[in-house]
Formats: sequence, structure tokens, C-alpha cells
Amino acid sequence: MWLMISSLGISGYLDALAASGIRGMRAAKEAGADVSFNDVSSQACQLIEKNLDRNALSGEVTCKNANSLLHERHFQAVDLDPFGTPSPYLSAASRSAREYLFITATDTAPLCGAHFMSGVRKYMATPLRTSYHREMGARILLGLAARELARLDRSMQPLLTHVTDHYVRVYLALSNGAKAADRCLENMGYVEHCPICGSFSLHKEPRPLGRCGQCSGKTSLAGPLWLGRIQDSEAIGRAMTWDKLSRRAERILAACAEEIDAPMYYDHHAICQRLSITPGKIDPAVERLKERGFQASRTHFYGLGIKTDAKMADVEEAINPS
Ligand SMILES: C[S@@+](CC[C@H](N)C(=O)[O-])C[C@H]1O[C@@H](n2cnc3c(N)ncnc32)[C@H](O)[C@@H]1O
Ligand SMILES: [Zn+2]
Repeated sequence: MWLMISSLGISGYLDALAASGIRGMRAAKEAGADVSFNDVSSQACQLIEKNLDRNALSGEVTCKNANSLLHERHFQAVDLDPFGTPSPYLSAASRSAREYLFITATDTAPLCGAHFMSGVRKYMATPLRTSYHREMGARILLGLAARELARLDRSMQPLLTHVTDHYVRVYLALSNGAKAADRCLENMGYVEHCPICGSFSLHKEPRPLGRCGQCSGKTSLAGPLWLGRIQDSEAIGRAMTWDKLSRRAERILAACAEEIDAPMYYDHHAICQRLSITPGKIDPAVERLKERGFQASRTHFYGLGIKTDAKMADVEEAINPS
């Protein structure tokens, strides 16, 4: 996280739900940012003061409801790291953040369709439990952020999106202007999914439930969600030049940077199971798709996933060439 802050040259940073302050303190210590800390709990604020002393750091500490602070003041970058969903803070943070908004969501069950109604309430979108649910969750979160910003004539460009362990994390660069907000909303859409064969297709508009073009199974619709670019390989590349990068962070960043810009992914093993074949290596299938003129890559979202602009029939052929 601080590597992103460092590479973006962020000076004014608000750790809006700071708890012990560890996140903001790393931003201050390792990225040299001028950090403001906030937490609604007075106990947390005392701990932040203590931790600043212990680390010979300084920073403003406020003890407010994050929404009050975010409505009162602007910060160059705002970081939301709440318990569970960031949804209650997104509106105020969209107003407060001048240039960057960083968001963590740990409510992966609602985001990914496992707690359906909770996902609908928190994100004003229909999630679906699919084999690519990790990316679906990230795109539902991004979709809510894009719509919150658009209400204020603002827009976003995702710099880095990852789902690691049990949380979704997105890094957004923000811009002002109604026209840019309109263009940004063009990235919103829907995913039509077939639960029988795992095929999916992308649509700009909602549509009545239909039939799968591959197996004729009944399809379901997820969305609205973000279908635009989710990784900025240039920004990620800059973050990767940081000399304090851990091996794990380097691996995640490299995988994100290499992902092609195609929403969702196919589950290699689920396809092999359906075709009743023994799963082979994934990389040769990815290479075969590329040889046939499709875009294709692995994905950090899922070790057994294949991202591609090819349809299911071509993916099956690449996995199991005749
Ligand atoms: C998940 S913790 C933050 C973890 C921290 N960012 C870290 O990296 O360790 C969420 C924090 O949000 C605080 N909090 C909950 N509701 C809040 C609100 N409305 N305004 C500000 N802080 C709030 C809690 O007191 C808690 O310390
Ligand atoms: Zn199907």
C-alpha cells in the first residue's frame, strides 16, 4: 500500500479508520507522507498517539465519525479500511478525496454473492456466486465507487485492484468534471452468467433472463458493475521499482500488471471436470489462445483462472485441443 503511496508522490493522506494507526504510520515512515489519523474510538486515538511517540513520528490525530470529518475537510488521498463494508463511507470519501481514494472491503461474502441480499443492500447491485466471484466482488465495489463519484460530477481510474486473502483492495485516481464522469459511467455494465457451463457475456444494459449460447442453460444477470480497466500496468510498474517491496507484494503486483484487460476469467479445473479430462498445465492453454489470436493471461484472482476475450468453446479447445 505504502509503495503505491510512495510511487504516486502522495503528501497529504488521511487514514480515516485508523485503529492502531499502523497503516498511516507505514505511509508516513516508508513513503514519507504527511498523514492525518482518525478513528471514532477514543481508545484507538490514544493508542495512535502512543504509537506515533514510539515511532518518533508526528501526525494530526482526530477522534471523529469518519463521515463527519470527510464532509468537513478535503485530503489529497483518503484511505478507507473499515470493518466489513466501506459502503457507508463512500459517499463522504468521494467528496473529500482530491486525487486518490483507496478502499478496502472485507465483506467478501456479500460482494461475491454468498450473502445475496446483503450485497444488494450494501452495493446496490446484484452479485452472483460464480467461479470468478473474486473478480465479480472487486468489480461490484468499483461500480459503487464509480456511481458515488459520478453523483458529484467526478470520475475514477483504477490504478490497482487486488483480492488477496479475504479482502478486496482498490486504488483509484480521481478527476473532476461532468463529461469525464459520463465517460467513466460508460464502463458500467452487467454480466450474464450460465451456472451450467460457466460461460459468461458482458452487456451494457440489463436484459431479461435468457439462455446460454453454449449449452442453452438458463442464465442469470449480475450488476451493475464496473467492466472497465482495473489495473494500470504503468502505475503498478512504478510501484514495483520500490526497493522495500516484499516478495509477496512483488508477486501480487507482477500478476496484476500482467493481467489482460478482459473482465472475469474461466476456471480451468471446472472446465476439465465438465469435459471429463485430467487437468493439464494452464500456461500451454493460455499460449494456445494467444496463438489463435485471442488475448489471454493468468490472473492474480485465482491460480486456476484464465483471462481471455475468447468464448467458452475456444477456451475448451485451447484446454483440450482436438
Ligand atoms: C478494521 S479497523 C481499521 C484497521 C486499520 N486500518 C489497520 O490497518 O490496522 C476499523 C476501525 O474503524 C473504527 N471505526 C468504526 N466506525 C467508525 C466511524 N464511523 N468513524 C471512524 N472510525 C470508525 C473502529 O474503531 C476501528 O478502529
Ligand atoms: Zn452454458
